[in-house]
Amino acid sequence: MATKYLVYMVQVHTNFRKAELESLAELYGIKSIDFTKHDEQSPFFLVELEGDQQARDWIKRSILTRGIYEYWGEGATLEELHENVQSQPFFEHYKDTYKNDSFKFEFESYKGTSKANRVKQIESFAYLDFRGKIDLKSAKQTYTLIEEYKPLSDNVPGTVPIHLYFGRLVQRSDRLAVEKYDLKKRPYKGTTSFEAELSLVSANIAQVKPGTIMYDPFAGTGSFLCAGGHYGALVVGSDIDGRMIRGKGAAQNINSNFRHYKENNRFLDVLTMDFTHNSLRSNLVIDTILCDPPYGIREAIKVLGAKDPQRFVGKENVEIDGQKAYLRRDYIPTKKPYSLDSLLDDLLQYASERLPIGGRLAFWMPTANDENIETIIPLHSNLELKYNCVQEFNKWSRRLLVYINRGPDFHGKTNHGSSRSRSNFRDRYFKNFN
Ligand SMILES: C[S@@+](CC[C@H](N)C(=O)[O-])C[C@H]1O[C@@H](n2cnc3c(N)ncnc32)[C@H](O)[C@@H]1O
Repeated sequence: MATKYLVYMVQVHTNFRKAELESLAELYGIKSIDFTKHDEQSPFFLVELEGDQQARDWIKRSILTRGIYEYWGEGATLEELHENVQSQPFFEHYKDTYKNDSFKFEFESYKGTSKANRVKQIESFAYLDFRGKIDLKSAKQTYTLIEEYKPLSDNVPGTVPIHLYFGRLVQRSDRLAVEKYDLKKRPYKGTTSFEAELSLVSANIAQVKPGTIMYDPFAGTGSFLCAGGHYGALVVGSDIDGRMIRGKGAAQNINSNFRHYKENNRFLDVLTMDFTHNSLRSNLVIDTILCDPPYGIREAIKVLGAKDPQRFVGKENVEIDGQKAYLRRDYIPTKKPYSLDSLLDDLLQYASERLPIGGRLAFWMPTANDENIETIIPLHSNLELKYNCVQEFNKWSRRLLVYINRGPDFHGKTNHGSSRSRSNFRDRYFKNFN
């Protein structure tokens, strides 16, 4: 028989929440969840699951959730909640099941209240008649009273809860990882580093799996490599800019970040490489691609080649000290500018060739917020566009695009960079979107 659970979520990045929860449910083979009941306006989501193990699997990696609780009841007031808890068909069964377990009570409320008041609230649950020991350090069961408040106006929080839920804690989420990977505490970072919270969410929506290979072709300071490593993937990155890869010495490079997190066994390596001249061997299985391609704002979009090839005609055989110049260790190849649209076309094509069927490609794409310019999402006939989650800023936004490789039989829509791009994002950014 299905059991009712309460998912308690955070009210940030709410348009990424369903994508994260759906992706994690699919990753663990959980099919029973009715996502039509998920509401972006509410931090609560009631679901039915087979049992605690499913609930634990589902939520243990979630970033945009606080935790999942076995649902015991709810009410507009504490009195109503008590009546509701005792009227539930499962009440006697639950009471019996956990009767002799050690336990404690917790409160989820943004508002502090006196200890005496909390003790009074706990005592009002005396009818549960638990016989186990109260254990604040390692209780077997934790019962939680969650209070929901409604703001009185934009900046004025409510003072009295408008609704209360009561449940048994089954699994806390992975929100502590947001602190752990906070950029402020990271040894090696730079202007292109991606914030911890959304890089972890991206790894969840990309379904990065333990023991599989994740590749970030535009690794920079390695933010997505860290997120992938956190979820147990073996990560490999590349960047055309060798300075990013080298970092600032052994104590401040991508590898030092992995050592800092004690996850260096997940770090395969990083290569100085132009993604469009890719040297990863073609039979290497890349399970997931997760990245933040260059937008041309803080970093140039460059590929190997010459802007003016005529200048180099006849110079291929230049030698220095009897050695071909381009074979020397200090040779710096020429680079030429490239467009974001062409780079995204290359990325989709690469994903369609290299990901296994069902494998995910996830990347961030910037867009201007003008009403008169339609945002055209890159499409490839082998890839299903699964999610398009937008993070709004003032005059621009960026979106996480997530694709699933369905193979050549998918016959999806295709478009190419030249037909998508009416205006260059970089130019519009520097003209302040006027
Ligand atoms: C938006 S940044 C990625 C930042 C990265 N997520 C981080 O955590 O620092 C894009 C990166 O792409 C690199 N890049 C630009 N063109 C490239 C190319 N053709 N091949 C590989 N990397 C490239 C840039 O050097 C830059 O480091």
